[in-house]
Amino acid sequence: MSNSLRIGIAGLGTVGTSLVRMVQDKQDMLADRCGRAITVTGVTARSKGKDRGISLDGITWHDDAHALATAEDVDVFVELMGGEDDPAYGAVKAALESGKHVVTANKALLAKHGVELAALAEAQGLLLNYEAAVAGGIPIIKVMRESLTANNVTRVSGILNGTCNYILTRMEKDGLSFEACLKDAQDLGFAEADPTFDIEGNDTAHKLAILTSLAFGTKIEPDAIYLEGITKITIEDIEAAKELGFRIKLLGIATRTPDGVESRVHPAMVPLGSEIAEIGGVTNAVAVEADTVGSLMMSGPGAGGDATASAAAGDICDIAKARPGHQHGPALGQPAHTLAPHERAPMRSHAGGYFIRLTVVDKPGTMAAIATRMAEQDISLESIVQRRAKGASSSEQAPIILITHETTELAIRNALEAVRADDRLIGEPQMIRIETLG
Ligand code: HSE
Repeated sequence: MSNSLRIGIAGLGTVGTSLVRMVQDKQDMLADRCGRAITVTGVTARSKGKDRGISLDGITWHDDAHALATAEDVDVFVELMGGEDDPAYGAVKAALESGKHVVTANKALLAKHGVELAALAEAQGLLLNYEAAVAGGIPIIKVMRESLTANNVTRVSGILNGTCNYILTRMEKDGLSFEACLKDAQDLGFAEADPTFDIEGNDTAHKLAILTSLAFGTKIEPDAIYLEGITKITIEDIEAAKELGFRIKLLGIATRTPDGVESRVHPAMVPLGSEIAEIGGVTNAVAVEADTVGSLMMSGPGAGGDATASAAAGDICDIAKARPGHQHGPALGQPAHTLAPHERAPMRSHAGGYFIRLTVVDKPGTMAAIATRMAEQDISLESIVQRRAKGASSSEQAPIILITHETTELAIRNALEAVRADDRLIGEPQMIRIETLG
């Protein structure tokens, strides 16, 4: 087919390899649905000789991403390398400057340079598509960028990292250690090249920053997001959560408030039996609340080669179907120059219930002292449980779990500071926010 759409793929990891295979195996179907063939004309990756189980016959190998991004026989540059700066940044910019559409799965790049790249794509009359950057195979970008155009979004939230959800699910279901679950997630191709981005919450924050911009028409500001990962979650927390009717999930939540946008990424207690609590393994879920549509939630595979390549392939097909010379929709849902600054609502005014797990010295007056510190901050307790300690020093220490009614982050922090100063604590307190979504 003479008018085939020629794509150049930078990065042949799990996603890139799946994408090449998908485009080759489904070429007739894609040609029928797009009205033209999709052809991979060029690739680049770190190692040329590696056996990836795909055929690269007839595809030009480029030694660097910039050369591929500007190659004569490439119409669409597909960036699957990752990394917030060069080489990905330089290559995407060069592709747009030389008139190529871009498809990327790179949330870190978009979180840092998304507004600039969106402005460049608009100025060049090109498409910058990034469905694969957020929530793997779930088509949430299209929904937020196009389908919800007539809505004022009030909240966007969800489970946005497959690796963390997989780890938390397996720790609970199989009683495995954090490290063993992370290793499995890496072996299955879910984790980032540097998995600290997953487990420390940065990957969720990058995705939430993009969704926040689409939801509220603000500039992408990952640094405005309050961030806590899952590395401090223990089996004790998971067991206590279950006993008290909760499950722990790493959530990303952005809410419009009168003080600005409250965006936060942290582990949260969600009620057992709720829709979000049932999202297990590598599955992601994104919930949107908006004035016209009401509430909606989409769930699906949040990581993995095929699911992510499916999203990138959809983006490529949209480009194949776009009319040449026709004005394309702006990459961030509205022209980049109209995006408002991101006014950040302070985390200290966050209101909600809290789970607090403390290990304290087991002596008279400890429980009363803790209750007093809470009362001094006007915190009302829903439940307070003292458990029998396990292990050698069990006669001297006691684990205590508190569940609070709605209060503020500031009150909780002040109360915990006062409890700390009372010198009855052993180790650091664990504090997990309680969240009801939808
Ligand atoms: N490492 C990411 C995750 C991949 O686990 O969700 C998809 O962005």
